[in-house]
Order: sequence, then C-alpha cells, then structure tokens
Amino acid sequence: MCGIVGYVGKKVPVQKILSKLQGLEYRGYDSSGVAYFDGEIKLKKDVGTIGSISKEMLGINSELVISHTRWATHGEVNKTNAHPHLSYGNNYVVVHNGIIENYKELKAQIGEDKFASTTDTEVICNLMETQSGRTFERFDQTVSKLVGSYAILLFDKMGGTLYAAKNKSPLYAAKSPNGYLLASDVSCFEDWDYYVLEDGMVATITQNLIKFYIGKEQVFPQLQQGNNLCAQTAKGEYKFFMQKEIAETPQVLKNICKTYQKLAKNKQFLHIFGKNSKVLLCGCGSAYHACALGARWIGTGRKLDARAAIASEIKYFGKITKKHVVILLSQSGETADTLAVLEKAKKAHAKTIVITNTMHSTMARKADYVLPLCAGPEVAVASTKAYSAMLAVLYIISCKNAGFAIKNLSKYIKNANNVSTNSQIIEQIANAKRIFFIGRGDDAITASEGALKLKETCYLDSYGYYAGELKHGTIALVEPGTIIIAVITNNRIKDKTINAVEECLSRGAEAMVVSNQIIQNKKIKQIQLLPNLPSQIYAIDAVIELQKLSCAVADKRNCNPDRPRNLAKSVTVE
Ligand code: AGP
Ligand code: GLU
Repeated sequence: MCGIVGYVGKKVPVQKILSKLQGLEYRGYDSSGVAYFDGEIKLKKDVGTIGSISKEMLGINSELVISHTRWATHGEVNKTNAHPHLSYGNNYVVVHNGIIENYKELKAQIGEDKFASTTDTEVICNLMETQSGRTFERFDQTVSKLVGSYAILLFDKMGGTLYAAKNKSPLYAAKSPNGYLLASDVSCFEDWDYYVLEDGMVATITQNLIKFYIGKEQVFPQLQQGNNLCAQTAKGEYKFFMQKEIAETPQVLKNICKTYQKLAKNKQFLHIFGKNSKVLLCGCGSAYHACALGARWIGTGRKLDARAAIASEIKYFGKITKKHVVILLSQSGETADTLAVLEKAKKAHAKTIVITNTMHSTMARKADYVLPLCAGPEVAVASTKAYSAMLAVLYIISCKNAGFAIKNLSKYIKNANNVSTNSQIIEQIANAKRIFFIGRGDDAITASEGALKLKETCYLDSYGYYAGELKHGTIALVEPGTIIIAVITNNRIKDKTINAVEECLSRGAEAMVVSNQIIQNKKIKQIQLLPNLPSQIYAIDAVIELQKLSCAVADKRNCNPDRPRNLAKSVTVE
C-alpha cells in the first residue's frame, strides 16, 4: 500500500509537500521519509508517521522532493527499511508503492552486499547503478526488469527531473501552480486537473514539462478534470473518526435514498442485471461480508443465481464468463485483489458493476457501470458507515422495485437507534479471553462482520460463526472467560440460536444477544434492536450496534480504532 508524493517545480517548503503526504497516511503509517534536492540528495526517514520528520524540515525549501508513508510488505518495520532508499553508489533515490516479486533474483544478480535494507524496493535504485546510459535510459531498463506492482518516484544526484513508473499501484500527476505534483491519490490535488498514469507507463517530469512513455513511444494521456478532489474531514466533537463515522450512518442512508430515487428512473439502472443469468459479487474483508449478504438478497429478490466470493480467491480459482454480471464492492475502489477480479471479468467480457465510495478510483474508471455509496470520506481504518452504505445499495438493487426498498430505508432512518451500549457489556468484552459472534442466515454474516471489527480495533480473539456449527468442533474452545454474542433478528430460528447460546453457558461462557426479540434469560445480557424491520435493514441495524460496541471496547482497552496496528485503509498490494 503506502502513500507517495513527489514534487518538481519552483522552490517550495518541503513541509508543504509533506502536508500532502499526511493526507495519505490512511494507506499505511508504520514508517515514513523524505528525500529532497539541495545541490545534492538529502534524506530523512524514520519509524512512525511523517509528523516528526516534517517538524525537522522547518525552513527547508526544495524544487525536487519525494516522500513516502509505508505499510511494510517486505522487510520489518525499522528506520533502514523505511523509504526513500538511496542506491549503493549514492546516485539515485527512490520511493515505491507495491511489491517487486522478482526482487530476490535481482538482488542476487546485483550482489547481496550492495544492500542496506531487507526490502524489495531497494533493488530499484541499485539496479539503476548497474545499467548504462543517462538516467532516463537506466530508468527505462530498470523498470523493464521489474515483475510485480509498483508506483515509483525517483531522482538522481544531479536533480532537476523526477522519474515515475506505474504498474498496478495507483499513480497520478497534476500541474499545481508551482510545478508538478505526483501522488498515489488524487485527494492531494486540491482542484487541479490531473493525469492518470496507466499500467506500463513511465514519465519524466521537470518544472514545466511532463512526458509519458509506453516502451519507447511517447503517449499523450488525457487531462482529467479535478473537481472536489480533497476529502478533508475533521473529528469534531468525537474522540475517534470511527465514532463520528458510525454516527453519520443515518445521514449516509439519507444520501443514498436521495441519489437512488433519481437513479431508479434511469433505464440503465432499471436493467442493471440485463439478460445475464449469473451474478458474482466480490470484495475483501468487510466488503466481502456485504457481498455475502448481497448474494442472498439478489438470489431471493431477483431470483438470480447470485454468489459471493472473496476477491483474493476468485482471481485465481474462479470461472467468470460473459454470462456473468460481476459486482465489485470496494469503499476505496483501489483494493488490489478486487481490482484483479475486475480485470479478470473484463477479459471474460462479463458485465462489470462497481459499487464504491470513491468515484474517481481506478475501479470506478474501469467498470462498465458504477454505483455510488454516498458515504462521504471514511477515515477510520475500520469500515463502518461505508459498510452500512454497501448493504443499503445492495438492498435497493436486490429489489425489483427499488422504490420499495428506498421507502423502507427512509422509514428506518427516522427511527434509527442512538442509545449507547451498556458500559457493563463493554467492560466484560474488554476483559474477555475469547469472543464468538454467532448467528444463522443473514445474522451469521453480521456476526462475522462484528468479529472482524472487534479483531481489528481491539486486538481481541474474536470469531464469527454459524450458530449450528459451534457444536461440531469449535465448542471445545468455550470455557470460562469466553463470551458468546448471538445476533438474532429472525424470530423463526430464534430458539435454535438460543440453544447454541445455552450450550455455551453450560460450559462456563458468558452470553449476550443483539436482537429484536426479548430473550427471557437473566444470564443473557441484551442489546435491543428496533421492532418490525425488513430483514435486510436488520443487517444494518444490528451491525451498527456491533460497530458501536467495538469502538467502545477499543476505547476501554486504550486502542486507537482509527489506526489499528499492522493495517491500512486501502490495501493496494496483493
Ligand atoms: C474493514 O473494516 C476493513 N478495514 C477491511 O476489511 C476492508 O473492508 C477491506 O480491506 C476492503 O476495502 P475496500 O472496501 O476499500 O475494498
Ligand atoms: N514493498 C515495499 C516495502 O515493503 C513497499 C510497500 C508499500 O507499498 O507500502 O517497503
């Protein structure tokens, strides 16, 4: 993943460029660094975010800067492995986003003793040393030897020119009032028009000129209009973005109702599934959970053969044909695994629909049809309002009569529950040894999403499970210190799920339910859901309670739910 920002132009404060990089920390924040030209290459990097390095840049101006915020893929998190990397001859400096898959082979060719770090990235600047010709020829030769994904920015010890290359990891270039800015996300570009670097492109950039090449041939990509690119947002009265974003859910649902009311009159939307008989929904993490629910709803509502698949699996093992409608769900629109499925689907001539929160993302650009999530910027790593938005959009498209779903959603918004979670429950979960979230049908998927949220924000051992499956092995893990959280929104199978809860109580576990039913058992604590909602809306109502719970438990355990360890908001590597 990682974020990169580079600049070439009139001299500007280095801090100004680093403030742009700070906006990309959602892509990774384990270490960071900057290289700038000041008659020679100057380099500063360290573990942690760019904030403290930026303070040291006070009063320093430069005409050529590259900067990086890392999410380590190869090589542990330490100062040496942080980017930028300087070549062994001190002639070239590089930042990179992605994975160089053949780095071991290249490293062996160059000579292991020439390497300071244990990253894959360092092969790029060291390969530059071993090529011949001027910097551009060397860069071109270097890039042609790389296998994998990369967005690369590099300059040499003479300064003046920035070199860029892109394959599978996003990279954009914009002309700012002072010069060119290159970045892994257009949110750095204020309202400037920008170029999208396509896979296989190399670019050379000086203060007034940007040139793009594919192979030896110069190419001329179209300038894209830069409207409303900045996704700045503040925490306001909230302690965490996660809290704020959960609280914004009713407003997001309102936005969805408004947008889809208009869309529902559109012919393309009305025939969204066309004549295709098979629907495949793909995503990762929370987005995959939304796919799993979507497949159930589309299967029932539209009577189509709808299946959900984990993107990182389907891209290798799935069969996609032109009879498929492939729906890709992604808040960021940049997740590498999901993007790979989109490309696979396009190759198979399947119809592709992307449901995303980022309308200028790579997926949005590539899909046949794009549906917006209307959630506004989601900053916290743990997805909350965007997940609920995914469910709302899936609910709308799963109904033949979209207006019916929109009406139900509007009714729900008026009654949405704002009560905070009982502090005793929070305390209990914060101290638990292990937590099982269980449910049946849709509730089992909500349970899995609840477990994922608790894992990523609180570092607690939590699992999502089918209530009926516990007794087939996993119940061996149930003991005092275990908590069972049952999601029950379907009255028909309520007693069956309660049986599973009772079985765990008998083995020393503590239990709670998130339910629209009243559970008559004093040993079971209850988080109450609203009565009489459509089952699809229960998936939203229940998950909001689980999200609130995770956020509160994270706070209790002094974890920052906005920036969990080892994670990043946008996962642009495989
Ligand atoms: C959600 O809480 C997670 N951080 C994660 O599972 C996320 O949903 C996943 O990485 C997919 O991201 P996307 O929606 O941007 O594609
Ligand atoms: N593979 C490189 C590293 O581990 C870059 C990772 C990234 O894209 O954040 O340093």
